Amino acid sequence: MTVLRTLNLVRIYQNGGVPVPAVRGVDFTVAAGEFVAIMGPSGSGKSTLVHMLGGLDARTSGEIWLDGKRVDTLSESAWAVLRRRKIGFVFQFYNLVTNMTVADNVELPALLAGMSPREARERREYLLGELGLTERAYAAPAELSGGEQQRVALARALANGPQLLLADEPTGNLDSRNTRDVLKLLGEVHRQGQTIVVVTHDAKVASKADRVVTLADGMIVDDASMRRRRFTPGTAGDVVELRG
Ligand SMILES: Nc1ncnc2c1ncn2[C@@H]1O[C@H](COP(=O)(O)OP(=O)(O)OP(=O)(O)O)[C@@H](O)[C@H]1O
Ligand SMILES: [Mg+2]
Repeated sequence: MTVLRTLNLVRIYQNGGVPVPAVRGVDFTVAAGEFVAIMGPSGSGKSTLVHMLGGLDARTSGEIWLDGKRVDTLSESAWAVLRRRKIGFVFQFYNLVTNMTVADNVELPALLAGMSPREARERREYLLGELGLTERAYAAPAELSGGEQQRVALARALANGPQLLLADEPTGNLDSRNTRDVLKLLGEVHRQGQTIVVVTHDAKVASKADRVVTLADGMIVDDASMRRRRFTPGTAGDVVELRG
């Protein structure tokens, strides 16, 4: 089953009257339960693409289909409803609500999606626990390091149990231990069936994905399935195989 599909998606910014083509005709399909990494050099259009997929930036032309419905034509308020119910978004630069505690930042999307206060609290405790943030639950975002804020942003994006998780560089500011926590959580929700599209520069993150899509100059230049072989004791271990 297809969760997400784009058809000839284009985004051209206007920079003082000069057109800047950021995304130039992307055809992209994500199946339910798939974990896709988007890679590519700085400026290749990765953030622009995922922002459009989450309805956070308008397309110039082309189509976006989510869960069998065309969504690129939706109004901003209809997008907001859709995001609340179906999408979790991790921004490249966190975007936490500054005057709310970490706990409230994470619980709010769960409550908005219709969970009971008890379910929202349990979900928050689970997510913050997995990310090593239990002790920071009652801190304000401004009291956290960049890496801590980034992990809170991931917990918040997963709080509503989204059909689709979109994450823009979720480990961009993390050291290796915290990257490991984020990867562990992504792996865990993926095993539970979570569909994930993650923009990353980090090969460790990409190696967890089922597929790596490479953008260059706003176009997909490579789309490779990674077939993971299970670890068998006494062999070379986790071998990742690239298929064209
Ligand atoms: N709001 C904007 N107005 C004008 N140009 C923009 C805007 N946002 C992005 N661009 C341009 O569009 C192109 C793609 O930018 P984008 O942020 O999508 O790249 P990226 O692949 O996410 O890069 P990075 O790895 O540095 O985050 C770049 O040339 C960028 O300068
Ligand atoms: Mg970016």
